[in-house]
Order: sequence, then C-alpha cells, then structure tokens
Amino acid sequence: MNTSPLQNHVLDRLGRPLHDLRMSVTDRCNLRCTYCMPADKYGEHYQFLPREALLTFEEMVRVSRAAVALGARKLRITGGEPLLRKDLPDLVRMLTAIPGVDDIALTTNGVLLPNFASDLKAAGLRRVTVSLDNLDEEVFGAMNGRNVHPADVLAGIDAARAAALDPVKINVVVQRGVNDHTLVDLAERFRFSDCIVRFIEFMDVGTLNGWNYRQVLQSSEVVRRIHERFPLEPLSSSYAGEVAERYRYCDGAGEIGVISSVSQPFCGDCTRLRLSSDGALYTCLFAGRGADVKQLLRDGVDDAALTAFMRGLWTARTDRYSEERAAHAVHEPKVEMYHIGG
Ligand code: GTP
Ligand code: 5AD
Ligand code: SF4
Ligand code: SF4
Repeated sequence: MNTSPLQNHVLDRLGRPLHDLRMSVTDRCNLRCTYCMPADKYGEHYQFLPREALLTFEEMVRVSRAAVALGARKLRITGGEPLLRKDLPDLVRMLTAIPGVDDIALTTNGVLLPNFASDLKAAGLRRVTVSLDNLDEEVFGAMNGRNVHPADVLAGIDAARAAALDPVKINVVVQRGVNDHTLVDLAERFRFSDCIVRFIEFMDVGTLNGWNYRQVLQSSEVVRRIHERFPLEPLSSSYAGEVAERYRYCDGAGEIGVISSVSQPFCGDCTRLRLSSDGALYTCLFAGRGADVKQLLRDGVDDAALTAFMRGLWTARTDRYSEERAAHAVHEPKVEMYHIGG
C-alpha cells in the first residue's frame, strides 16, 4: 500500500487545498504595536497564558505531522513574538525532521534576532520575515508602543542576513496618517539589499485596534507613490496562492510586494490553517472560535484520529471573511492577532 503523505491531499468546501500551517508559539510580545496589542490594554499586570496552557513542542509537532499528512508543505512559526519562547531552535529542529516539509519560516519583530539567528539557521530554519513599520525613530517608537528604535530591528535584519536566513522579507503595516508619509524612504533603504519589503494594508483583525476603513491606504496607491520615484514593473507570483503581489524595480534594485487583503481579498486562494498559542485550530484569520486540538491531544488521541479530526475541520471549511467583509457585523467575535500570529 502506498502510504505517501501526498495521497491524502484534502480540499475544503470551496475547493482549496491545505498548503500552509502557521503556528503561534506564545501570546507574549516584547512590543506593544498599537494595531495589535495596544499598551493601554496590555499593561504590566496583563495575564498572559500560563505555561501549561501553551502547547508543548511535541504537541505542535504532532499537529504539524497531521497537517503534512493532509497536504501541508509549508510551516510558519509566529507569535506574539516567537523568539520569547524558550528553546525555539529545538522546535525548529523537530519540525525540520518531518518528512514532506518544503519550507519553514519564522515571523518576528526582529529585536531578539541577533541572539538567535545562527542557532535558528543551524536548526534548519530557511528564512525569516521581520516586521518594521518605519525608519523614523519617533513614528516607529509610537507604533511599537515601547519606543524601540528602528536600529534595533535593523540589527536583527543584519543578523538574519549574516546567518543566510534569506531572503529576508520585511513586513510594513501601512496606516494612513500614521506611517504612510515615509513609505518611499523605507523602500529606498532596502533597494539593492536583497531584502523584500512588503507593504500590508491595515486590516480589521482582532477587536482592539479601532480599525476604520479611512485608515487603510490601498496598495495601488503605495505602488503609485514608489513607482513615481523608483519605476516599478509587475512580476508574476513565485508560487500559487502567494499573498503578496510582486513588483521589481526597473533599474535592477530588487523587488517589493504589496498585500492587499482589504482592497483585493485573496480568499479564493487561501490555503492556510492556523494553530493558536493556546492550542486551537483556526481556518481563518478572522474566525471567532477555533477547534480545541489541545484537549484532544491531552485526552490521548492517536495520530490517525488526530488526522481525521483535522481532515473534518478542513473539509467543512467555507471561510472567506475578507471577501465578505462588508456583510459581517462589527460586534462579531474575532480572535486577536497575537494569539494567532498573522
Ligand atoms: P511568504 O511565505 O514569504 O510568501 O509569506 P506569506 O505569504 O506567508 O506572508 P506572511 O506570513 O509574511 O504574511 C504577511 C501578512 O499578510 C500577514 O502578517 C497578514 O497581515 C497578511 N496575511 C497573511 N495571510 C493572510 C490571510 O490568510 N488572510 C489575510 N486576510 N491576511 C493574511
Ligand atoms: N493589519 C495588517 N497586518 C497586521 N499585522 C499585525 N496586525 C496587523 C493588522 N491589523 C502584521 C504585523 C506582522 C504580522 C505578524 O502581522 O505587522 O508583520
Ligand atoms: Fe508584537 Fe507583532 Fe503584535 Fe507588534 S504586531 S505587538 S511585534 S505580536
Ligand atoms: Fe483566508 Fe480568512 Fe484571510 Fe480570506 S480572510 S484569505 S479565508 S484567512
């Protein structure tokens, strides 16, 4: 009998395969970005999850194996800030050992990368995506809520490049009236660097960022502004279902991306399953409730039953929040971004 994981590819109700598993390893963060974990709500006394509420590395590996058995080929480690989770390179080593995984990446705010980049590389991590919303000290300090300087993140990016965790991608959340006046500077800083800057439309994830459509600057406008200074031309996607639209600088200075989940939703190609820090599986970034896989694991489920549970979850999936945004009520419950990792 052929027991290759490839024979088990599953499709959801809209015909979308499961291709990526994104797992949040902690709900803690050393920053307090205003659009994610506003400092006034996540102060010194905020109770983050106790250790026993987090999945262990072994439990994450079991969920990952089941996802791979159902067709997943790409793993992404997220947070909160994933580098706050003790011994993270051990998890990377364990995930790398799963047969069938083609790509393993990490999303981080970069501040702790100088301490971990070479260990992560040695453990098998392929690449990192670093969030950096601005190069201006004041603007960035206010956006990250902790007055962390851009230089601290740039040091993390340099450490990742030195460790060959490439290509380094840089995520910029664009908020009109907050950081949109400096986007061209950010693009310019990374020309000829082999880093790929991606400008993300500000989204209504979670319940705490006071999202308003007026704060969204459409990607088409971001491209227009950069193109005016440094001419750009579109590139085709590097893989099916890529979230970012790619552009290259006409003068050979590299490429940028834009992620337009508000103005041009990409639910039709959404192949992502998310595992939250408290052990629930979410089939959409905007879901209100996840499926409690932690309880199942701790009740002693075997691998076949775990895979069957996840197959059932995926085959029942109908999510397309961003395409239906206008139809959703403002007060509907939604998971917070730092629980699910973006
Ligand atoms: P690559 O593997 O490097 O192409 O990255 P990726 O496409 O997995 O993108 P990444 O994880 O860096 O995502 C960048 C941002 O895009 C996230 O932080 C989210 O803000 C947004 N994003 C990613 N996936 C989704 C999604 O499924 N739905 C929505 N609405 N936004 C998403
Ligand atoms: N809109 C768009 N992107 C967001 N991120 C966090 N919150 C939002 C939001 N409301 C991004 C972060 C990081 C990734 C994990 O998600 O900037 O790059
Ligand atoms: Fe932390 Fe990332 Fe949320 Fe900022 S966006 S508070 S860095 S988890
Ligand atoms: Fe996928 Fe939900 Fe994002 Fe649509 S809104 S792309 S279904 S995660």
